[in-house]
Amino acid sequence: MEELFLINGGKILSGKVNVEASKNAYLPILAGTILCDGEVIFHNVPNFTDIHNMCEILKRLNVKLFSSGEFLKLDTTNVKNEKITHELTNKLRASIFLLGAMLGKFRQAVISYPGGCNIGQRPIDIHLNAFKSLGVKVIEKHGYIYCNASNMKAGKVTFSSVSVGATESLMMCTCLLKGRTTLCNVAKEPEIVELARFLNAMGADVQGAGTDVIEINGVPKLQGGTFKVFPDRIIAGTYLILGALCGQKLQINGFKKEHNEYLLNILKETACEIVEKNDNIIISANGRNKACRFLETAPFPNFPTDLQPQIMTLESVANGTCVLKENVFENRFNHVMELNKMGADILVKDRIAVISGVEKLYGADVFATDLRAGAGLVLAGLIADGYTTVHNVHFIDRGYEKFEEKLSSIGADIKRIKIE
Ligand code: EPZ
Repeated sequence: MEELFLINGGKILSGKVNVEASKNAYLPILAGTILCDGEVIFHNVPNFTDIHNMCEILKRLNVKLFSSGEFLKLDTTNVKNEKITHELTNKLRASIFLLGAMLGKFRQAVISYPGGCNIGQRPIDIHLNAFKSLGVKVIEKHGYIYCNASNMKAGKVTFSSVSVGATESLMMCTCLLKGRTTLCNVAKEPEIVELARFLNAMGADVQGAGTDVIEINGVPKLQGGTFKVFPDRIIAGTYLILGALCGQKLQINGFKKEHNEYLLNILKETACEIVEKNDNIIISANGRNKACRFLETAPFPNFPTDLQPQIMTLESVANGTCVLKENVFENRFNHVMELNKMGADILVKDRIAVISGVEKLYGADVFATDLRAGAGLVLAGLIADGYTTVHNVHFIDRGYEKFEEKLSSIGADIKRIKIE
């Protein structure tokens, strides 16, 4: 059975939309619960398939989960050091976080390679080299990674290049390791700061998250506790771009300005009207937006790669030409062909897309190729003339909860169609 979105574009969207908790903060934090002795209770777990897949892996490690709605209790008292097999890891890039957490807890792990969105090779060499630099023995064979950290020692790790996941892996791997570990050339995404906040709330001593150097002073154990994760900045950014396209006093609840400063500054140069409040923002489209002449993705606090497909939709109907460079992933332009089917005028050469703004897009039959490409295509369908069908919505469900219901609640004409 296939599910797709059927969108009748051209509606003006208004009202209030609440942003779910951050997928990319919850995924490492859920993996990190195995470091805690006792019960960990979360109050706002989002209903994303990536989250469900992470919980499936935790169950295989004998973590007991009790959930009702957004409330999730995990009992890690009897967590086991099981081999994490391919059918579990290939659905989820974030499965790699279990490696760092298991090395932190058990000093030993066997895990298959992570899957994830096809936006590039997605290697894990930065993770593995960082583990090795602390004395972890790593053997890769027959599709599995065998790690022995019995001789792991606290020390200094300088990542060969900035990696969100590798930074998070090493934070988890060392928070129960005696001594001080210093991480250099780290990622500074808000999700890194949130992971440190979680670990410290459970009794860890992680300092400097969000800056260039993170210091972890190992503690003997982490206890359980309760926790709530901040709103998803990529979902918030997606709705903000939607508002710039076709919003009329669209209010986004759960918008943290410090998480989307770069996007906000871009949108302030366009025609749209923005009213900022404490933890929400109100945006209205106001005629055709001026193109952003040059834009490139880069690690936080620069423009996030996870909003690149969505901003491409905005630029595809802007007045002028935008040169957009994708610096983070080597294969993150799969949505361009789909947008051009809708009448966009976008040329791609290597990591550069040249977007010549057109007056309007037209409905078409398009295919999501990954989570954020899918979100960008939904935005395109919402402003296009006529009907658009967006296939492969399972990609979108990985990081947007009932996207069609949320969009319908603010006036979109969008339905989820099941095809046997
Ligand atoms: C995280 O992926 C996010 N996923 C991604 O979000 C996000 O796009 C990315 O960070 C960048 O912000 C989660 O947090 C679950 P990286 P991650 O390690 O950790 C290369 C979404 O849509 N690299 O910072 O995998 C890598 O190939 C997803 O929610 C290596 O070469 O990203 C990429 O080119 C998509 N070797 C670059 O570094 C490694 O060992 C940055 O990757 C690791 C990464």
